[in-house]
Amino acid sequence: MPDAYILGIESSCDETAAAVVRSGEQLISNVVASQIATHQPYGGVVPELASREHLRAIVPVVRQALAEAKHTYESLDAIAVTRGPGLAGALLVGISYAKALAFALDKPLIAVNHLEGHIHSVLLEERQKGNYELQFPVLALVVSGGHTHLYLAAQNHDSWTYDNIGHTRDDAAGEAFDKVAKLLGLGYPGGPVIDRLAPHGNPYAIKFPPAQIKNRDRRGRNDGRVVDPKDDRPRFDFSYSGIKTAILRFVESHEMQAAVDARRESLAKFTKPKLDDLLALCDRQTLDLVASFQRAIVEDLVGKTLAAARAFDVATLFVTGGVAANQELRQTFEREGAKEGLPVYFPSRPLSTDNAAMIAAAAYPKFLAKDFAPMDFSAEPGLQLR
Ligand code: KG4
Ligand code: ZN
Repeated sequence: MPDAYILGIESSCDETAAAVVRSGEQLISNVVASQIATHQPYGGVVPELASREHLRAIVPVVRQALAEAKHTYESLDAIAVTRGPGLAGALLVGISYAKALAFALDKPLIAVNHLEGHIHSVLLEERQKGNYELQFPVLALVVSGGHTHLYLAAQNHDSWTYDNIGHTRDDAAGEAFDKVAKLLGLGYPGGPVIDRLAPHGNPYAIKFPPAQIKNRDRRGRNDGRVVDPKDDRPRFDFSYSGIKTAILRFVESHEMQAAVDARRESLAKFTKPKLDDLLALCDRQTLDLVASFQRAIVEDLVGKTLAAARAFDVATLFVTGGVAANQELRQTFEREGAKEGLPVYFPSRPLSTDNAAMIAAAAYPKFLAKDFAPMDFSAEPGLQLR
């Protein structure tokens, strides 16, 4: 099979990204334009601003990805783009541009599920390291700002299928990081700030009750087992809105609000605060709260994922998505996975968060299968992965 050079385009949330990947196994270029500075004053992503920023960035970002790859538009074999899930207006910018390119260049167009992209970022980097031997079944935890999903991933020749065995019932884990950082006046996005601050607090200072997920099985029992009513298989769902509310109550009952407001105001002066700047603005109680929050989230993610791995007897674990960049999460998965003899693979930190290399990599099996998208396909903000 000759090499295939695929241009990936990603615009589902607050990063405009383009990348060229060879045959799903070699990263040739990877350009990401972040919108953090645009959304920072609002403490979260503002969809209208995201679309506008994508419009502004898409052409230069794609040009840069081609220039860094030393490729021309003509030398590409296909154009791949994120179809969903994501923000409708944001997705449409990438899709419209990818369609225009594919039409003008007469190249195949490939539509990719963003969540499948996160899974393929792991595969891309493993192949790049020369690791082609993957033991199945594979369990993938996709944990990001919009998603906390567990999939059993299977490969049949060139095509991949995904079976969801767990997802969040409310907030995604990354969303919890972002909301908690916001309510502690720590800025946006919350994950990276909490990641840096947590080692400076006591993770055992504050105990949060574990999330209660109730589910009756089809015989009407409610014995604490969580089962899928469709097929009686165990489910491993998550819930993170309770811990966010618990932190809000803690802030109120410990009269921390004035300090939170002062911190928010001081941090607004920085575009990229250094760790020392952040530490100077946090008292012991805040650091303990941050560390205890992160520990609770990490324990829940690792505990449920490993329980799912045991229940489905999986041979390999992938952990991917923005939250997979978290140091404590990575270390805990590695340590606990090793205890069970379970190999755990993560993307490098730059490929954990949103990027287009993962889109180009996930497109390669579809390229081989000639699974091309029609010119009239549209964005699917709620697209599911199967
Ligand atoms: O995958 P991603 O870039 O976008 C989505 O598909 O959502 O993930 C972004 C999310 C944000 O919620 C951000 O706070 C979180 O990932 N995140 C982190 C870290 N870096 C990014 N969470 C915890 N620790 C980090 N180091
Ligand atoms: Zn993502």
